[in-house]
Amino acid sequence: MNQGKRVGIIGAGNVGATVAYSLAMLGSCHEIILRDNKIDVAKGKALDMSQAAAAVRSHTIVRVAEDMSDLSNCDVVVVTAGSPRLPGMSRDDLLMINAKITKEVIEGVAKYSPDSIIIMVSNPLDAMTYVALKESGFERSRVIGMAGILDSSRMASFIQEKLGYGGGQIRASVMGGHGDDMVPLPRYSTVAGVPLSNVLTNAEINEIVTRTRNGGAEIVGHLKTGSAYYAPARSTTIMVEAILKDTKQIHPCAVYLEGEYGHFDVVSGVPVMLGANGAEKIIEVALDDAEKKMFEGSCNSVRTLIDTLNKNNFFEGE
Ligand code: LAC
Repeated sequence: MNQGKRVGIIGAGNVGATVAYSLAMLGSCHEIILRDNKIDVAKGKALDMSQAAAAVRSHTIVRVAEDMSDLSNCDVVVVTAGSPRLPGMSRDDLLMINAKITKEVIEGVAKYSPDSIIIMVSNPLDAMTYVALKESGFERSRVIGMAGILDSSRMASFIQEKLGYGGGQIRASVMGGHGDDMVPLPRYSTVAGVPLSNVLTNAEINEIVTRTRNGGAEIVGHLKTGSAYYAPARSTTIMVEAILKDTKQIHPCAVYLEGEYGHFDVVSGVPVMLGANGAEKIIEVALDDAEKKMFEGSCNSVRTLIDTLNKNNFFEGE
């Protein structure tokens, strides 16, 4: 099944390597190609992961691209390259550093894997997805940002912790950008189909919403020298699998909006149907006035970043 599928992963740091590892364990692709400036470290990790794959009788082989040109004909390319968020650093501080890195790697992806679907993971996520879309020239369905699955998984885990039951039966919903003003949606969150408001008080729900918004920072605060990677990587793997297996399942993902939810020329997290062609459909759920306002606020934060890139002539000459 899925013989011949090739997944490129740019950046073999904690997130990239963990995506590669979890994909290799699942055996949903034939080959994983890691690309990192630290070629020897990437080679060590690739060998280690190929051997782990052999241990679980997965047919996946992990290799290293010594040059961007080795990252050819990939079905999916995951971009995790970038500077990680350090303590005290907001995701936005990373903007200019990571925009430049993204521009460079996307040029290579567009050249050597022109038919691929790009999954962006680098922060600030929504702005980097915007940069990848503009730099690749791909249609918007083929440039998708990962964050909604991560943020809603965090919310689900906080709900489980608060309730003390319902693990594996919680569906939490988060829309908007992957920033401090993301939009957790308790109204669309359930425990075994039961609305959240039936099992938790408003105060408890508000606490969960706040903790979800700070979910990344909470982990940075503990790790001190880096940011989360298990949940970000596993969330990315879910997207890669949905695309490789053409599942047509709905996941919250960051995509370029062309009028959906009343917004244009911005990237934000919305429910998306994932399949072999990428983000094949954007689902528009009914938001109430307060939710719409929060979504707008989140889109405006992403617009501020895009404006900063424009002011620095980032897209000039294209
Ligand atoms: C997080 C950071 C990496 O949410 O954005 O974990």
